[in-house]
Amino acid sequence: MENKTHLVDEITGHRRMRRNRKADWTRRLVQENRLTVDDLIWPIFLIPGTGIVEPIPAMPGVNRMTVDKAVEAAKEAADLGIPALATFPNIEMELRDETGSNSLEKNNLINLASAAIKKAVPNIGVITDVALDPFTSHGHDGILRGSEIVNDETVEQVARAAVYQADAGADIIAPSEMMDGRIGAIRQALDAAGHQGVGIMSYATKFSSAFYGPYREAISTGGLLKGDKKTYYIDPANGTEAVRDAALDVEEGADMLMVKPGLPYLDICWRLKEAFGLPTFAYQVSGEYAMIKAAAANGWIDGDRVMLETLLAFKRAGCDGILTYFAMDVARHLAKK
Ligand code: PBG
Repeated sequence: MENKTHLVDEITGHRRMRRNRKADWTRRLVQENRLTVDDLIWPIFLIPGTGIVEPIPAMPGVNRMTVDKAVEAAKEAADLGIPALATFPNIEMELRDETGSNSLEKNNLINLASAAIKKAVPNIGVITDVALDPFTSHGHDGILRGSEIVNDETVEQVARAAVYQADAGADIIAPSEMMDGRIGAIRQALDAAGHQGVGIMSYATKFSSAFYGPYREAISTGGLLKGDKKTYYIDPANGTEAVRDAALDVEEGADMLMVKPGLPYLDICWRLKEAFGLPTFAYQVSGEYAMIKAAAANGWIDGDRVMLETLLAFKRAGCDGILTYFAMDVARHLAKK
């Protein structure tokens, strides 16, 4: 009687992919990528005041925190081994204006947080954004003149804001506002102020994405935003343009690159890593987080497994690390293993 396996043997010859998958030990032995706590950057949201931790409805499990609570959270993160935090302020509406002038206030919320965190938890890295959107009354990342987000004036302001952020203790400046020439200008300003040791993680390829919705709720810019950000963020259709934009940032002195959003842009992660070989990060943004949380809450997916799978996918795509709202959950999960 003809045995079916003979037919398969004829086709596969000696090639059987399943040999390496046959047991837990073989699978562990051939595993190419691993997610560790060292890969995690934890974005946190700041609010004024003391003693307050308030949930963000569109991001279940994520809170806005006053500086004292952020310091406690930073300690917890450092104890779990998380290398760095990225801070985003939700400042009072009265302090927001057309030019985002609060970004140039030495003791603004983001700078107070950096100083307090670095004082209490010196061994955790603090990464700060210089985009103006948390500070403007219109929710744009730059200065709005008429109907235009003006480039050069914005660059001058974010470079000055970067110096204040470095003065306050920020270890890495991460500009996300996508103005042309910002990396070079920030580098010059930091160096002139004696901050040669402060790095720049460029949001090199920030796409004009619908995945940022929950973040805009978190820092209360959603209702403010007039129009969209298409004149400065990259069109989601364009990969080669994203590589060109990143090349300029590398030339201007970026120490690290970031791709944002994350999962829908894994091709860009891979292309940047291949093209430049710089430390490359992905930002798993608020909408990506919210989708996983919502599906998990409905029982439609296994939230923990999907969380881990998405983060591992970033590693496979060439990323050195991930900014993720899951950072604490992942760190706890990895510590248990
Ligand atoms: C803007 C900024 C955005 C995010 C962080 N800083 C995007 C935006 O609002 O346009 C998004 C982060 C997230 O969605 O998690 N400078």
